[in-house]
Amino acid sequence: MRLDVVTIFPEYLEPLDVSLVGKARARGRLDVHVHDLRHWTYDRHNTVDDTPYGGGPGMVMKTEPWGEALDSALADGYEAGAHDPVLVVPTPSGRPFTQQTAVALARQPWLIFTPARYEGIDRRVTDEYATRMPVHEVSIGDYVLAGGEAAVLVITEAVARLLPGVLGNAESHRDDSFAPGAMANLLEGPVYTKPPVWRGRAVPEVLTGGHHGKVARWRRDEALRRTAAHRPDLLERCDPAEFDRKDREI
Ligand code: ADE
Repeated sequence: MRLDVVTIFPEYLEPLDVSLVGKARARGRLDVHVHDLRHWTYDRHNTVDDTPYGGGPGMVMKTEPWGEALDSALADGYEAGAHDPVLVVPTPSGRPFTQQTAVALARQPWLIFTPARYEGIDRRVTDEYATRMPVHEVSIGDYVLAGGEAAVLVITEAVARLLPGVLGNAESHRDDSFAPGAMANLLEGPVYTKPPVWRGRAVPEVLTGGHHGKVARWRRDEALRRTAAHRPDLLERCDPAEFDRKDREI
């Protein structure tokens, strides 16, 4: 997968060299290109923003640097053999970014991110590129960040771990909270490792008994308990028939 990010803070994206995403790059699964938006400004102050038409507080990011930066990133990518770009616009006004979004984006060969600062980017930029490629405006939560760069890091990490050959164990994301399957829409329950007793606290007996069916049932019950406590809204999306079917399997 090729990934382009246009930003006024290229250094903000340095964590993309670290940990799982860094490994995905080292293994050739992710080809990351970070571009400094100010490179496409021509005044003494490298201006990327201006006052909003219609008045109001804050500043709006200008069309011209974004247009030139995106044209350049696209030309670079096509020249390198990339194809079918998708524009990902992090914005608090976007559709919620979910595991489903991550799965859909992980299937794309090329993502181009446009993290904005200030009050956002002049609308004509997204309108212009929407005529050439799919555009996804996504929000990572109901809060306002100072800019979209942190959202790019979040989205990239969620997507990169789904790419083939990135996680050591392909099963690791099978049971994730929100992964498709029987436990879809349930939060994962608690997990334990050695030692069996720590400061007088023992690991739940069922986990050391070696009975796979009982373990599966316990995990499901714990997942239900946690979901009811932390995200009761998710329970409404569960299908009780799916639980009955699973119980018969156990
Ligand atoms: N930029 C500012 N806030 C954001 C959010 N919640 N999600 C995505 N991008 C953002």
